[in-house]
Amino acid sequence: MTDLSALKAKYAEQIDTAPDLAALDAVRVAALGKKGEVSLQMRTLGQMSPEEKQVMGPALNGLKNEISDLVETRKIILEAEALNAALASETLDMSLPVKNETGTLHPVMQVMEEMAVIFADMGFAVAEGPDIEDDFHNFTALNFPPGHPARDMHDTFFLKPDADGNKMVLRTHTSPVQIRTMMNQKPPIRIIVPGRTYRCDSDQTHTPMFHQVEGLVIDKTTHMGHLKGCLMDFISTFFETDVETRFRPHHFPFTEPSAEMDVRYERVGDEIRIGQGDNWMEILGCGMVHPNVLKNCGLDPDEYQGFAFGMGVDRLAMLKYGMPDLRDMFASDQRWLGHYGFSPLLQANLATGLS
Ligand code: PHE
Repeated sequence: MTDLSALKAKYAEQIDTAPDLAALDAVRVAALGKKGEVSLQMRTLGQMSPEEKQVMGPALNGLKNEISDLVETRKIILEAEALNAALASETLDMSLPVKNETGTLHPVMQVMEEMAVIFADMGFAVAEGPDIEDDFHNFTALNFPPGHPARDMHDTFFLKPDADGNKMVLRTHTSPVQIRTMMNQKPPIRIIVPGRTYRCDSDQTHTPMFHQVEGLVIDKTTHMGHLKGCLMDFISTFFETDVETRFRPHHFPFTEPSAEMDVRYERVGDEIRIGQGDNWMEILGCGMVHPNVLKNCGLDPDEYQGFAFGMGVDRLAMLKYGMPDLRDMFASDQRWLGHYGFSPLLQANLATGLS
């Protein structure tokens, strides 16, 4: 009969002195692997007399468990040592200047960050929602009842209908996030929603995918004057100059009254100068949240009110940074990105400048 305690001592010693995880695993295989010494011993059980088996069976099993426990304990120690060694050797000095900075921040991202900074300063939080929306959030809850003609104005991309005939849509605006927020959050609400939106349209000033920033304020006392002040302040801060604006009556199903805001501009050669001149350019849609929308979200319109606005980010980026064609924005041309892109290391902020 083999001396099991000698076997145990031998492997305990090898496990204890295994210098790394690979060596430890080699010891484990030598003892417990298919052709390992302990496994081979266990195979001899079949030829033993019943009395012998009664002693050797449990003894061998015990040995197997002991060795396997020792391996596990040693493994934890070696893993910790390996991690510490990696942590010590793979350090990066974050204070070193960056070499060969090549990537740039896309102007759309830059402009969204600038907007987030300006609105954060006014107390707005950033909210987000899904690009693939259902009909309820994109239309119905926003007071576009089924069959309403305004639905057709959105050139909607529909997904294949499900078994019940319901068609999901690529959201045509960021307004569904108004609904998601009002249904999940008790007023006061003050959010902006930067995100992608989709309409089946493509020319020099339209792309099938574009970006919007939505805004929503809900409380008990906010009125149209707050809406105007908020947006006028925003636009002057964004363009980093005094910009004259005007509000024109308009219609959106989800706001009442509704308006579009225009900014004064002039064209000098190829250049568009915002803030001066004799022309007006439409910049965004806005209005007081419609009582039906509040009701659809479970809010009492006699208690709560507020305003919403939505603007095209790509359009504002073109105006601020002078890109002539919207479609170039999404062509992924390295030269364009290199020229119009921003340093990813310079964060937009109000103290040292937005851009
Ligand atoms: N959702 C509108 C659009 O995409 C913009 C808008 C948002 C208008 C909020 C009013 C209030 O055209």
